[in-house]
Amino acid sequence: MDKHILTLLDLEKADFETLFQRAIELKERYRKGITEKTLAGKTLGLIFEKPSTRTRVSFEAAMVQLGGTPIFISAKDTQIVRNEPVRDTARVLSRFIDAMAIRTFSQDLLNGFAEYSDIPVINALTDLFHPCQILSDLLTVIEHKGGYDGMKIAWIGDGNNVANSWINAATVLGLDLVLACPKGYEPHLSMLEGRKVVVTNDPKDAARNADVIYTDVWASMGQEGEQILRKKVFYPFQVNASLVKEAKKDAVVMHCLPAHRGEEISEEVLEGPQSIVWDQAENKMHMHKAILEILILKKGDDTGV
Ligand code: CP
Ligand code: NVA
Repeated sequence: MDKHILTLLDLEKADFETLFQRAIELKERYRKGITEKTLAGKTLGLIFEKPSTRTRVSFEAAMVQLGGTPIFISAKDTQIVRNEPVRDTARVLSRFIDAMAIRTFSQDLLNGFAEYSDIPVINALTDLFHPCQILSDLLTVIEHKGGYDGMKIAWIGDGNNVANSWINAATVLGLDLVLACPKGYEPHLSMLEGRKVVVTNDPKDAARNADVIYTDVWASMGQEGEQILRKKVFYPFQVNASLVKEAKKDAVVMHCLPAHRGEEISEEVLEGPQSIVWDQAENKMHMHKAILEILILKKGDDTGV
């Protein structure tokens, strides 16, 4: 495993498997009420420059449940807001804490932080990628489908950060991934070159015989100004009962949340029997525990992991 998780291309297939296995173990132990102390004395710093409910709270809870301490670092209350260079912040924070989770706009900024950081840096979402989301989503697919091999995964909607991370996961794991996006909203060519994923402009094509239907908001954080235009363009890409009918009978519907009912997904489907979105949200915490243990303890401590 690389020192950081900046994109899913930092992971090999074996790393995915190690994370799934440990997350499953930790989830079982949590359910049995067994407490962990694997990260006692360790600290996780969190800088979030965009809103977050699931990612931030699940990382913080994960750290506490492993015996460690999360420290939320409000960017606007630090010297970051007064333009202290990222490379200086990275070098200083590396001397205080054991890992950093960062949600920000620019992937370059995150990469720049990681370059100067002595401690593991975890991408908690950028404009380009959301790697930890797909790790916990795949854990959820494994739980509901028994595995991901041979599963047709249909992405319906915007070619955004979550879609890009699905493409990376498909590249490393050899997933059968089909993305249906409106013309002009497909993932950037640089994300697709040399990749074995299918891109279409027809949501029904993508959904046909799928095992997993996945969607996300039409306007991501930072694109609020495009919301009205996007609503019009994306309307034929709504995940509703008629689209889900194209998929296999036992297909599951996923959404990273937050959801906009009546836009990218209908209320009926989101709250319906095929939706596994709440399991998906829960699994973020179990996966984040596995990520934190593996990245932090890799530093040479006697882990037992
Ligand atoms: N899915 C996800 O990343 O949610 P938050 O924005 O609430 O963290
Ligand atoms: N694509 C969405 C994901 C939110 C978790 C966004 O970036 O806003």
